[in-house]
Amino acid sequence: QDDLFKKVIAHAKEYGFIFPSSEIYDGLSAVYDYGQNGVELKKNLREYWWKAMVQMHENIVGLDAAIFMHPTTWKASGHVDAFNDPLIDNKDSKKRYRADVLIEDYAEKQRQKAEKEIEKAKKRFGEDFDEALYRETNPRVKKYLDEANDTVKRMAASLDAGDLADVKSLIEEKGIVCPISGSKNWTEVRQFNLMFGTQMGSVAEGASTLYLRPETAQGIFVNFLNVQKTGRMKIPFGIAQTGKAFRNEIVARQFIFRMREFEQMEMQYFVRPGEEMKWYKYWKEERMKWHRALGMDDSYYRFHDHEKLAHYANAAADIEFNFPFGFKELEGIHSRTDFDLKAHEEHSGKKLQFFDPELGQNYVPYVVETSIGLDRLFLAVLSYAYREESLEDGSSRTVLRIPAPLAPVKAAILPLIKRDGLPEISREILDELRYDFNIQYDEKDAIGKRYRRHDAIGTPYCITVDHETKEDKCVTLRDRDSMTQERVPIQNLKAKLSESLSL
Ligand code: GAP
Repeated sequence: QDDLFKKVIAHAKEYGFIFPSSEIYDGLSAVYDYGQNGVELKKNLREYWWKAMVQMHENIVGLDAAIFMHPTTWKASGHVDAFNDPLIDNKDSKKRYRADVLIEDYAEKQRQKAEKEIEKAKKRFGEDFDEALYRETNPRVKKYLDEANDTVKRMAASLDAGDLADVKSLIEEKGIVCPISGSKNWTEVRQFNLMFGTQMGSVAEGASTLYLRPETAQGIFVNFLNVQKTGRMKIPFGIAQTGKAFRNEIVARQFIFRMREFEQMEMQYFVRPGEEMKWYKYWKEERMKWHRALGMDDSYYRFHDHEKLAHYANAAADIEFNFPFGFKELEGIHSRTDFDLKAHEEHSGKKLQFFDPELGQNYVPYVVETSIGLDRLFLAVLSYAYREESLEDGSSRTVLRIPAPLAPVKAAILPLIKRDGLPEISREILDELRYDFNIQYDEKDAIGKRYRRHDAIGTPYCITVDHETKEDKCVTLRDRDSMTQERVPIQNLKAKLSESLSL
């Protein structure tokens, strides 16, 4: 698994998907640039989301709010006071860690020990094995699972109560060591705010501190009435937005899984108070269906219902994806109550209410949000798509089995050789198709090598122009996944590609 992840990262760089930011200066930690193929895949994923959320729903509209917002926004939203990570340093290695992540990792190890016991028992008992019963009754398994649960519960309670001393005690009691030095020599735990601050205006003019937004959601909340009134929206309705968000992540690891600058795709759905649970359940299911429609195996997804809730939520769940490093959060669905709109009312002094004609009354709507990281979705698709395949002729290939409508390049036009008029015919075909599809023309190297190059960036089709094309006006269409080839009349190409490539 670790190996797979390293290969995916190397492949992403080698084939122009993702580069470390400002690499010639040795990069910037947890910041990445998208290359020529990455930018296409990312755009296609964003479009796929936008179509499903905005275009396919009459009552959801889009928004593109600024990254900079009035500083009071972040006071109202709770980010100034509560958007913190508990940090701890190891005195020997001088390494800084998130205390909660150290404790979560400890709990995960306990869970893994339980799973190991279960696997052993499975082998021992064979077909008669009742896993559910074993989980509940075997003392060793129970001990590990209870230890994991109790530890996480105690940590959550201490963090909620602001009792950072107890978080440190927990780390000491569990004997958690620094992953680098193996030492148990820890500092106190302290809170660290994740927002990046910057200045607007020159200091002489009386500069004020701005924050780079840590989530896109607040741009939607402060525009709630603007959109509702100008769009004549009736509740329930949604506002969707994609855009950059920034977090000064301390444990920035796992490639583009946790970045300091990333892109979110969020939708806030405004509902009647009291109806939020109905809509929360609805959006949980809808979002899972959307993921499954991408064509990746169902077993790669699961829900994780939260026990510990953020300060604004009364219910929350993650859709987790089986990344090369295990199941981790891909998307969050949160029932945010009327927390945000109420807070903005209080801090701005402006009413943010809806007059419900059916009820004949004004109220502050409740909000259910769906929030997904575009970069995480990118990583999910890329790591799932990456395959090393052994072929029947004894050779091997690396192929990205990206769902065809999302692929960066949809087809490659390949003249078999660089003369005899084949390049000219190829370019005519290219001109006919390039307005509708992202197509590449490629005449360099032997045909087999060109196929491999396009397999490696996930191009679903290769169109080969050969000498026969001059006679029969047909080309060879090679399918990336099955590697089968068929003869197709040039005039049918557009329809044929449209069939399998439209979102
Ligand atoms: N408005 C709600 C919100 O921002 P969140 O759970 O903090 O909720 C939502 O973030 C999603 O944004 C996550 O599920 C994840 O996909 C993505 N995300 C959050 N932090 C990220 C980071 N540092 N790097 C990449 N993606 C991130």
